[in-house]
Amino acid sequence: MSDSPSLLTASRRFPPSRAFVESASINATRLAEMRVAADDDYVGFWAKLAREQLAWKTEFITALDDSNAPNFRWFADGTLNASFNCLDLHLATRGDKLAIVFESEPGARRTYTYRQLHREVCKLANAIKSLGVGCGDRVVIYLPHTPEAIIAMQACARIGAIHSVVFAGFSATSLKDRIEDAGATLLITADGSVRNGSSIELKRAADDALQAGSGSIKNVIVLRNTERPVDMKAGRDLWWHELLEGQPEHCEPEWVSAEHPLFLLYTSGSTGKPKGIQHSTGGYLLNATVTCQWVFDLRDDDVFWCTADVGWITGHTYVCYGPLANGATVMIYEGAPMVPDAGRFWKICQDYGVTIFYTAPTAIRALMRAGDAFPKSYDLSKLRLLGSVGEPINPEAWMWYHEVIGKGRLPIVDTWWQTETGAIMMSPIPGAIDTKPGSCTHPLPGIFVEIVDEAGTPVTENSTGGYLVIRKPWPSMARTIWGDNPRYIKTYWEQFGPDRYVVGDSVHRDEDGYYWILGRVDDVLNVSGHRLGTMEVESALGSHAAVAESAVVGRPHEIKGEAIVAFVVLRGDRPTGEQATALSKQLRDHVGMQIGAIAKPDEIRFTDSLPKTRSGKIMRRLLRSIAKGETVTQDVSTLENPNIVEQLAYPA
Ligand code: PRX
Repeated sequence: MSDSPSLLTASRRFPPSRAFVESASINATRLAEMRVAADDDYVGFWAKLAREQLAWKTEFITALDDSNAPNFRWFADGTLNASFNCLDLHLATRGDKLAIVFESEPGARRTYTYRQLHREVCKLANAIKSLGVGCGDRVVIYLPHTPEAIIAMQACARIGAIHSVVFAGFSATSLKDRIEDAGATLLITADGSVRNGSSIELKRAADDALQAGSGSIKNVIVLRNTERPVDMKAGRDLWWHELLEGQPEHCEPEWVSAEHPLFLLYTSGSTGKPKGIQHSTGGYLLNATVTCQWVFDLRDDDVFWCTADVGWITGHTYVCYGPLANGATVMIYEGAPMVPDAGRFWKICQDYGVTIFYTAPTAIRALMRAGDAFPKSYDLSKLRLLGSVGEPINPEAWMWYHEVIGKGRLPIVDTWWQTETGAIMMSPIPGAIDTKPGSCTHPLPGIFVEIVDEAGTPVTENSTGGYLVIRKPWPSMARTIWGDNPRYIKTYWEQFGPDRYVVGDSVHRDEDGYYWILGRVDDVLNVSGHRLGTMEVESALGSHAAVAESAVVGRPHEIKGEAIVAFVVLRGDRPTGEQATALSKQLRDHVGMQIGAIAKPDEIRFTDSLPKTRSGKIMRRLLRSIAKGETVTQDVSTLENPNIVEQLAYPA
């Protein structure tokens, strides 16, 4: 196995290999030039890229409109179409090149060339139009991680409909809330999906969601994916394959303003209600496109595999939009990493000649734990670049990735970004920057970050931590929260003044100026790279009849990064023994039903009351140390009920 983490320090550096540097599209000299250009005139820097990298129907004149800051607008008077940029643009030069290579968990394989993908997208776009869906209408996509999910997103983009993908692991209740908030008129789902050998009944969940409300939905398109029987409601539900029959294979793209919303993606925040992050067409596509070139050094002969599900922002930017806009071949795997064993990912890399592999630290840790024999029994020689995203990667996992998967020679790009930033903000440029295990290194050219203290004063000394903020607008920034612009402004633009985007992460910069993301500073958990609000889990628990009150905190977890611990006060007596075990299971299942399996608490502790200050504020810091099993050293004298600490720490 790899080096002991104790040997690793912030000063340990890994320069890219000479071979990589020689063939890389950006070397240190080029990067320095890009930085100078961006520092000199960041608006001009982005405008030049937008003209070079995107195909416009009408060129924009104004690059940045800040008249309504912080609701910035980029390239607003230009028109384009995202699907045209991802598909049509490649037909003449790459029509027969593979756009998508797909494998399902049970082993079904399918491929699409750019020409085939274009045809399917056009047919679906025409089908959707025939249902009355037009430009600006919202379409919710609740599909497994299949090529059809990409086809559905691209078809919406083609006609200017705004897609909102809901991760297939979310429950019927979550689906309903998102459909309602978006006011969607069309839902695209599937009969089901197979994961970890068991079937996920998506259509059933969709039916439950629609029965419970969501009156705005007029039609449901159902993809046949597992052949499991489903109920089809006459007049509302339509089979994908039947609807596409006879649809024309050409669909004129809808030319929209660069500011036209491309999609909404709901993400957790510090309240119980997820927010619909709204992304634009032109600015989003620009950062998605260029970051593929800068960070992944994407070339025409690459097979690019980002393992993220299309239900998350990583799947949007680095499965659907970025690689296709670059004409790349994208690998898609619909299934779990451990099926039939921990060699599945490596077998896929071998079988399809994957050259760029991008995954989450939680997967790396789980695969590391399974042992080196799995990766060693597959031919990984085609790999040339590795990436990590979603949470801080611990140096031990980084070293294993580097040595066992990268054979000590592949660069690792640790990419820091968020749903709201749309694309990667900080990352090594692989041919230009030495990496350090656990650091996302530096902001990309055109991205200006700052570290500030509690009062918003910039921290200028290296080696000092603080809150991460972004100083200048960038093209792929979120435009607003759907239907709630005041919340957008309050969440992201108030804490440190109107010209500093509040990231919500704490960060540290070392003596060499390298950035190290430490984690969230708000009430947001990061469980297996997925974002969850503590309040969201608390409100799910609170909707159970037996629960009076709860407080949810995170606890470090070896594989998942963070585990969820819930402290629960019941309406009746505090249960113990078997009764507590049974109720715990009931509550976990209830949260699973309300949000989705990813939100089920790992541990539930019943208590007579929560530790509150006299002003009624729950002392979360105290709960976090109790959940970690630390001895309580905090001053508890300000607590209304100091005696409760004993019960919380040593539950019966
Ligand atoms: O805390 C940071 C963490 O994930 C948060 C964003 O979550 P989400 O919007 O779901 O997007 C995840 C995929 C882009 C961030 O605020 N995070 C993401 N990438 C990293 C990270 N933390 C440390 N290192 C990273 N590379």
